[in-house]
Amino acid sequence: MDAFKVIEKSHMAFKLSPFSVRQLLFLDKAPADIYGLKNNMFTKIIKANTVLNREIIRELIAEGQIKIFIYTDEAHKLISAQQENLRRITRSLSIGDPLKNAKLQMNLLTIHMEFLYQDPTNDDILNLQAQSIKNLAVFLIQNIGLHEKLYNEYIKQKHHFIFAQPMISSLFLTGVLKISKMYSDREIELLFITSYFKDIGMSAIPVEKYNQKDLSQKEKQIFNNHPLESIKILNGRISLGPNHIKIIENHHTFSLLQKELLTDPAPSAQFITGTETVLVNCMDIIAAMITGRPYREATNLFDALDFVRVLVSDEYAHEFRYMVNYFKSFKESV
Ligand SMILES: [Fe+2]
Repeated sequence: MDAFKVIEKSHMAFKLSPFSVRQLLFLDKAPADIYGLKNNMFTKIIKANTVLNREIIRELIAEGQIKIFIYTDEAHKLISAQQENLRRITRSLSIGDPLKNAKLQMNLLTIHMEFLYQDPTNDDILNLQAQSIKNLAVFLIQNIGLHEKLYNEYIKQKHHFIFAQPMISSLFLTGVLKISKMYSDREIELLFITSYFKDIGMSAIPVEKYNQKDLSQKEKQIFNNHPLESIKILNGRISLGPNHIKIIENHHTFSLLQKELLTDPAPSAQFITGTETVLVNCMDIIAAMITGRPYREATNLFDALDFVRVLVSDEYAHEFRYMVNYFKSFKESV
């Protein structure tokens, strides 16, 4: 009998929402009572307002309390606390240790992305996410030398791949665009934002579904439509022009067509892809391959880059060279 049934059976009629224990790393104190599962029963494990420290969190992880719970009608307190953290770090990114600040902002943005997936039509959540990611983009454009360290620190946090992949792919995109010397910083900033929000349409499927290898036919269809769904969610709510919206629309088209070309010399569709769309697509593929899934291991960066080499082949030789030049500096990660 699963835990929820046990609870129902014992007439403990309360409703809890799950969240990752790692979120506690970013809070000074518990925003509400926090519950965990012990012997298949929900038990209060941290009282509201308890001052949090790494020791408490380490103990919870050691006990297997990875997924913890809060009353659903108190979940807004958790969201507000994390949002306040995100606002604070967004305002003071350049004050103090830049590596530490950027790392914190990347982690808080990823936690906040989960809130956005849960409530994609909420303007306050989207606006805060957009404002903060813009600020991070400017920082990353100016600090290419910190990318590898940031990447290595970020993946240690073990965020769910659905929320980590857009961050990683957009970080890489920034580096490759900057190295190419073909784009102004403002153009790179807009492409970073485009890349970061391109998969927001995936919020149409519950995140746990992506842990499964196989989706149902209907879920597959929703997944395949996620670029259009992303546009629906973003249109008129975020400051991206029609060219960037077009990139979101086509952010998988290039790789899908290339795969078709590799197996069929006479493909069914002809499609001319802009360089930016190809780069967004390629960084997304690399980020997807190097982040593991419950049903497959992560690929190393070198093998992911080699896979992209096959895809872009001769058609985008310059662009591939920019990628190689950028990832050359990732000496510890290959
Ligand atoms: Fe996508």
